[in-house]
Amino acid sequence: MNQFDEFFYNSLKKRAKKGIERNLKSIYLNNLFQIQYKNKKYINFASNDYLGLSQDLRIKSKSQEWVKRFGAGSGASRLITGNAAYYKDLEKELADFLGTEAALIFPSGWQTNVGVVASLIENFPKPVWVFTDKLNHASLHYGCKAGQVKQIRFYHNDLIHLQERLDRFANEKGTKIILTETLFSMDGDMIDLEHLRKIANYHKAFLFLDDAHATGVYGNKGQGLAPAYADLTMGTFSKAWGSFGAYVAGSRLLCQWLINFCSAFIHTTALPPTVIGSIKAALDIMPDLNNLRVKLQNNILKVRNQLTLLGFNCGNTNSQIIPIIIGSAENAYLCSKILRDHNIWIMPICPPTVIPKSSRLRLTLSAAHDDDEIGLLLNSFNSLKKIIQNEKV
Ligand SMILES: Cc1ncc(COP(=O)(O)O)c(C=O)c1O
Repeated sequence: MNQFDEFFYNSLKKRAKKGIERNLKSIYLNNLFQIQYKNKKYINFASNDYLGLSQDLRIKSKSQEWVKRFGAGSGASRLITGNAAYYKDLEKELADFLGTEAALIFPSGWQTNVGVVASLIENFPKPVWVFTDKLNHASLHYGCKAGQVKQIRFYHNDLIHLQERLDRFANEKGTKIILTETLFSMDGDMIDLEHLRKIANYHKAFLFLDDAHATGVYGNKGQGLAPAYADLTMGTFSKAWGSFGAYVAGSRLLCQWLINFCSAFIHTTALPPTVIGSIKAALDIMPDLNNLRVKLQNNILKVRNQLTLLGFNCGNTNSQIIPIIIGSAENAYLCSKILRDHNIWIMPICPPTVIPKSSRLRLTLSAAHDDDEIGLLLNSFNSLKKIIQNEKV
């Protein structure tokens, strides 16, 4: 027992009382889409591996080859041990793929958002005004916290409200930054990027776009939604790319500036060769995966249409992330449990991750889900109809 354990105990107890304590479930992954939990098998509809690439043999074997060739770890920060040629080569190829002047690889998406946002806020000419979508990912909020700035929030995906907020600060000196996701991680809806770019231009605001859930999935070769619009794009390799890590992409000067001013790049160990190998293999095949992207879109259409017909509220999603909005956290947990009785693995997402009374099931689809799995998923939702009807009463 540690002298501070009483504090931890009481704070966990408060959460448990509200029904929002988080607990890790020990599972075994037989393969990506088959989860084993307490001797029962489930089909995984909770993964962000949208193209199924984490199981792709070309990616796995490149990862193995690179760990044999270059070792298990990278040893230190890229500024300390020297910049192994494979980072530089990969960043050049990545920038070409994204259509930007330059790109920079970071250890994780969370770290990128916190570190890059904080470094921009700390260094841009003061005062810095940061305009953020209300439903932005936690990492973007932490970036603002680390930069010690109060966010000016606009209603979720509401560009008219953003415009109004910016108008109010039109005569203020300093720097304006707009921070938003392109495809929202909890609601699956997308922002109107052309309109957003115009607003940013009008107000001379720096546009930072988080493309974590769009990269690999959208764009004519999987380059995502953001690069053509953003002053700085961030994307992750941890979702559709089937691996781990993240990137930022933008102008050559901006990337060089981050190498000098962003602690999250400077003071951290570089990604290990095995991860870089898997990213390189994914990048090699990414432009040619339109068959998978089309398959994913077909799965999306089928599931969304069917769930809507069954009377479920899927919000404004138009992507592979389908929220099934239940309402109370209690019922969201109950629905998730009933789905598990039908061998379907979908986790409930409850406050504080989402706003109160919008607890939901977060269903994510992959190109790797076959027709039988989609059929089982849709059948299982029939058993939730009663709960949903009670919530509406
Ligand atoms: C919108 C968004 N940005 C950033 C991240 C963080 O990315 P990573 O999981 O690679 O750290 C996530 C992760 O879920 C996300 O949903």
